[in-house]
Amino acid sequence: NPTPAFDMLLFGGTGDLVMRKLLPALFGAHAAGLLHPQGRVFALGRQALSRDDYLALAARDARAHCEGADDARWAAFCARIDYLQVDATRAADFAALAERLSGDDAGRVRVVYLATAPSLFVPVCEHLAAAGLADTRTRLVLEKPLGHDLASADAINDAMSRHFAEDQLYRIDHYLGKESVQNLLALRFGNTLFEPLWRREWVESVQVTLAEEIGVAGRGEFYERTGALRDMVQNHLLQLLCIVAMEPPASLDADAVRDEKLKVVKALAPFDAASVARDAVRGQYQAGASGGAAVEGYRAEEGVSADSRTETYVALKTSIGNWRWAGVPFYLRTGKRLAERKAEIVITFRDVPHKLFDVPPMCRNANRLVIELQPEESIRLWFRAKTPGDGMDLQPVSLNLDFHETFRGRRVDAYERLLLDVIRGRLALFMRRDEQAAAWRWVEPLLAAWAADASGPRPYMAGSWGPAAASTLIARDGLSWPEEC
Ligand code: BG6
Repeated sequence: NPTPAFDMLLFGGTGDLVMRKLLPALFGAHAAGLLHPQGRVFALGRQALSRDDYLALAARDARAHCEGADDARWAAFCARIDYLQVDATRAADFAALAERLSGDDAGRVRVVYLATAPSLFVPVCEHLAAAGLADTRTRLVLEKPLGHDLASADAINDAMSRHFAEDQLYRIDHYLGKESVQNLLALRFGNTLFEPLWRREWVESVQVTLAEEIGVAGRGEFYERTGALRDMVQNHLLQLLCIVAMEPPASLDADAVRDEKLKVVKALAPFDAASVARDAVRGQYQAGASGGAAVEGYRAEEGVSADSRTETYVALKTSIGNWRWAGVPFYLRTGKRLAERKAEIVITFRDVPHKLFDVPPMCRNANRLVIELQPEESIRLWFRAKTPGDGMDLQPVSLNLDFHETFRGRRVDAYERLLLDVIRGRLALFMRRDEQAAAWRWVEPLLAAWAADASGPRPYMAGSWGPAAASTLIARDGLSWPEEC
């Protein structure tokens, strides 16, 4: 079904996110015939560029990321795009923008995507309102991280709420748009097979890994201010944890889903000085190798200070204080420049209560559900089976579901799904203010403890699986990370 007619305003129009993700997402939707024929895209930026200049930039920086962008399709897509010079801090530019949109924008959904530094969110919002562009037709998309702690996120949200209702605000976390994350909901709530086991009585531990092979990829300055806790844990990792741990919602309505996720974040064990010291590990990559090539350490990256204490790796152990999950350890980890790119959830079920077979006690690679979210999308159910022969030897085997093999056809990118949802007014995959605030509240003691601790992050070699302390964190409980099995 094509979307309703829309105007999409992309602040930060010449930036990396627009070029690498947003234009390709819009192109994907366009090429699949999902965009209304009247849908228009306005790229906005500070630079004085003509429309042709901008399209040349897009051809250089965005087209390569657009699958199937032959000349005819690319040209048809470009016909939707215009460029306007808008300085986010200059009121006059917003008046000109309103002028440009007026006349033929009646009845269109107006999507304003803030792909800019968070410091510009409030000025943009206020100028939009002053220029009459904050009416009920407008939906505002806010990129993460929203603020750098609870107080700054609150300040931004307060300013937004002076001009926009909560249901006009689309706080994006692109992990929620990933096909594989959606599939997790289908796995849990579209079947009765796993749900009875999905609780403390049967689950021994849960591990969530978001490992990246890339370093800070030219975003050193941004990353210095942010760090892995704010960049990945406060949002992507916690969202995944919520989807793994939440109760079944009564419906897929935005608030029904978001209410359940919020309950999980609120039930997370709060960190204090003792648990930060015991259950949290931060690391920073040093020179090493990635993809067979030598790579420099974090401190040598452009825009990074030579004595930086910013973490590029985090591993945490936490627990959820509710009836379903009490006492089950949840191990979360993420890092840059790790051995491979892998996003994975491992649910380890409890071992048999009475052992009839002689199986190695360590490395529980059976009784396990392994959900790989990327780079491959698969679900593997590991259990023990008897090996053929006259003995009674058991070994781990797996039932595998490979989504790419099972479902052929076009894959919808996370940003494409999310942009379509904004145009269609669907909020379920976006974060509500209270959810995001609860996530900030949970990470704040870690932020504070690490800011005050001069010992800084532990070094790890680029291309490794992170600091040794992360292995100790989990080994203490008689468990190990999947790659250590
Ligand atoms: C972004 C972070 O939100 O997610 C990046 O800012 C990170 O630092 C990226 O690389 C990872 O996303 P994906 O979809 O490549 O796993």
